[in-house]
Amino acid sequence: MGKVFDAAEVANHASPESCWVILYGKVYDVTDFLSEHPGGAKIILKLAGKDATDEYDPIHPPGTLEENLKPEALLGTVNPDTLPKETPNAASSTAETNEGPPPVESFLNMDDIEQAATKLVSKKAWAYYYSASDDKISKRFNTEVYRSIMLRPRVFVDCTRCDLDTTVLGHKLGLPIFVSPAAMARLAHPAGEAGIAEACRSFGAMQVISNNASMTPEQIVKDASPGQVFGWQLYVQVDRRKSEAMLARINKLDAIKFIVLTLDAPVPGKREDDERGENIIGSMAGAGAAKAADRSADDTPNVDNASGGVGKQLFAGTDPSLTWRETLPWLAKHTHLPIILKGLQTHEDAYIASLHTPQVKGIILSNHGGRALDTAPPAIHTLLEIRKYCPEVFDKLEVWVDGGIRRGTDVVKALCLGAKAVGIGRPPLWGLGAGGVNGVKRTLQILADESKTCMRLLGVEKVDGLGLQNVNTRFVEQQIYDGPSGLESIRSSFRAKL
Ligand code: FNR
Ligand code: LAC
Repeated sequence: MGKVFDAAEVANHASPESCWVILYGKVYDVTDFLSEHPGGAKIILKLAGKDATDEYDPIHPPGTLEENLKPEALLGTVNPDTLPKETPNAASSTAETNEGPPPVESFLNMDDIEQAATKLVSKKAWAYYYSASDDKISKRFNTEVYRSIMLRPRVFVDCTRCDLDTTVLGHKLGLPIFVSPAAMARLAHPAGEAGIAEACRSFGAMQVISNNASMTPEQIVKDASPGQVFGWQLYVQVDRRKSEAMLARINKLDAIKFIVLTLDAPVPGKREDDERGENIIGSMAGAGAAKAADRSADDTPNVDNASGGVGKQLFAGTDPSLTWRETLPWLAKHTHLPIILKGLQTHEDAYIASLHTPQVKGIILSNHGGRALDTAPPAIHTLLEIRKYCPEVFDKLEVWVDGGIRRGTDVVKALCLGAKAVGIGRPPLWGLGAGGVNGVKRTLQILADESKTCMRLLGVEKVDGLGLQNVNTRFVEQQIYDGPSGLESIRSSFRAKL
């Protein structure tokens, strides 16, 4: 790859017939790859003929180029002196203000951290992280619902000692709080998912790595401590071989103890902040490339409305056809790790999951942080629904929850109602954006401190001492599903199969 190109020469290749891009100082011919790009051809054509590194880097883990391009696609390098000087609008800047970030010690709660991150991360990152579906009813309600559960503190209880140690899937953890899988951490900060792992390490907290992480799983678990626990989240791809290859890699990583299969987002929700956000199209389209993209709009396969935001691009390639019958047996062929099903929102589905033990060892009640179906129930509703219709589920598998957790009291309430672990999705990303690894540590520290204070004031020393006696859920109970249960037909069809 001896040839050195001038940027102007590369710029001549900005059409679907001949499409070159510059990445990390190297020049690639991606013409043949256009129709295969999971995010669609249009997105590449917007960057055709240019240096695409700033846009490409935070959302593609290393190895992506090598996996997807033939070796001959690498044409040579670019002469850096010929590249246009960066203009303020050119790339998605990671910091929009000149002031340095505030010290993490100044953050007292999750809102402080979100506010600080909002000022520091790029608009694209903010829009992707903040967004939720339609009117964001579920996103808001996820947090609000905790406010209408009242706590029942006991007095005259020695509360000198209190700790948050717990056991999840047989693994010892320092916290019942885990990091939910969330894509694209490097949009917030270059430390990315490995930075989140570093913060989790110092708390004994568990982390679930997203299928769409911006770093490879190998990079993320590289410095894992002996007891550190990770899960890996799977979006099954239409091209099953891709998922099978990933599972083969995951099976080799000792730190990864289980697979989380996400089921609540077979297609992405309509996330308007993300669509409006300064995505690749908005921020980078140069006149020439834009024209080339317009030309290609009619004849390029796989071109969805490319201004769908980061979310839509990430979902390209995800298989919406999964079923109980097909998917779990397929998964059993490719991994022996325990399976945790994520995104359950009814007691019926929780019950069916409980019929799939021992392969399925747990479920995460979640509405994807309000990013899938708007007005879907918060995890607390589903938790109470399971208690009402089929409490035996809690004896068969572990029930975890996520969505809307912003206070230690939220964590404790979920634990009281039977959750074994409580996930946070956006807070670690905001922490990363607000202060890198220290920002994530601060996020975990605040939630841990608040949870401990809550337990002490309740008069409970240990996580497994929390129970229904500690909460009053009367207000929320009037909102819990009260219709017919599908359980009888589920039971009889399952019996018929045996
Ligand atoms: C997510 N979530 C998610 N879930 C998943 O299974 N795989 C994924 O790749 C992602 N990606 C993702 C990105 C971003 C930016 C967010 C905010 C969320 C959903 C996540 O795991 C979790 O369910 C919610 O984020 C929980 O809600 P809170 O804590 O954000 O309110
Ligand atoms: C999201 C995906 C990737 O919520 O799960 O954006």
